[in-house]
Amino acid sequence: MDLVVISNRNARWIAETLLSGNGFEIVDIQYKVFPDGEHYVRISDPAKVEGQTAIVLSSMYPRQNDSFIETLMLADAARRAGAKRVIGIITYMAYARQDKLFLPGEPVTGKIVVNALDYYFDHIFVIDIHSIKLINSKKFTNLLFFDLLVDRIIKDWRVSNPLILSPDKGALHRAKFAAEKHGLDYDYLVKHRDRITGEISVMPKELSVKGRDVIIVDDIASTGGTLVLAARKVLEAGASRVFVSVSHALLVGNALEKIKNSGIKGFYTLPTLGLKHNDPLIVYVNYGNELLETIRKWVQVKG
Ligand code: R5P
Repeated sequence: MDLVVISNRNARWIAETLLSGNGFEIVDIQYKVFPDGEHYVRISDPAKVEGQTAIVLSSMYPRQNDSFIETLMLADAARRAGAKRVIGIITYMAYARQDKLFLPGEPVTGKIVVNALDYYFDHIFVIDIHSIKLINSKKFTNLLFFDLLVDRIIKDWRVSNPLILSPDKGALHRAKFAAEKHGLDYDYLVKHRDRITGEISVMPKELSVKGRDVIIVDDIASTGGTLVLAARKVLEAGASRVFVSVSHALLVGNALEKIKNSGIKGFYTLPTLGLKHNDPLIVYVNYGNELLETIRKWVQVKG
């Protein structure tokens, strides 16, 4: 199978972590920024791409706007260099939280990103897009790796029969995915605000956490607020231990500190961003083999 990998700047370490040792050529890209701020990319040796299936591996965090245009430029460059087909692996898709109009007069920015990717790529594998509503083209495959994250938590912490929880109903498909692969219970958390005291309670919709280990699954940890609240409430309700599994650990500002003070025992995530948090609490789980298997199967079917 003739595959070459073109990585955007954010995804360089992801390409090395996931793909090294798998016989992939990671082709060299020249980057520069012109004095006026515009970006330039060039595939150093276009002959390496000609006639091949080119995989553009891209993370759109941090520097979301630059990374977005870089991704499209790399796809265009690969096409013009004669790639047989151009596949995107978007390890983190920016702007997916703006998936609808929250207020009149807004754009649906997530749709802008999806439409542009749809135009430039033959197929796009995206890792845990925030809103699957954004995808309405057969060209997109949303990939979840919660089975790997949960598996690793179970092994590292000798967890037996954990309850998998999503922080809200919208993320239930993530809990379901993780739980069903391992035959575990799953549920989602419901938030109630007491109209008189204003106090917020967060409880699983159906199941009790009492005496159980809980694994909270979510797509993004940004400020950490969602996870910290969920973990605190679940522990108050009698859970034995709380672990977290998220696809994208942005952890902005003092999020890491908040998470470390929240009682969360282990925080498991994936290499999907152009940054890595070096902290003993944060465990990065390699999903390279599973990703490659998916792509290989896709390429085999397409011929
Ligand atoms: C929300 O719908 C998302 O799925 C995440 O729960 C949210 O983006 C997490 O953000 P934060 O860490 O700032 O609470």
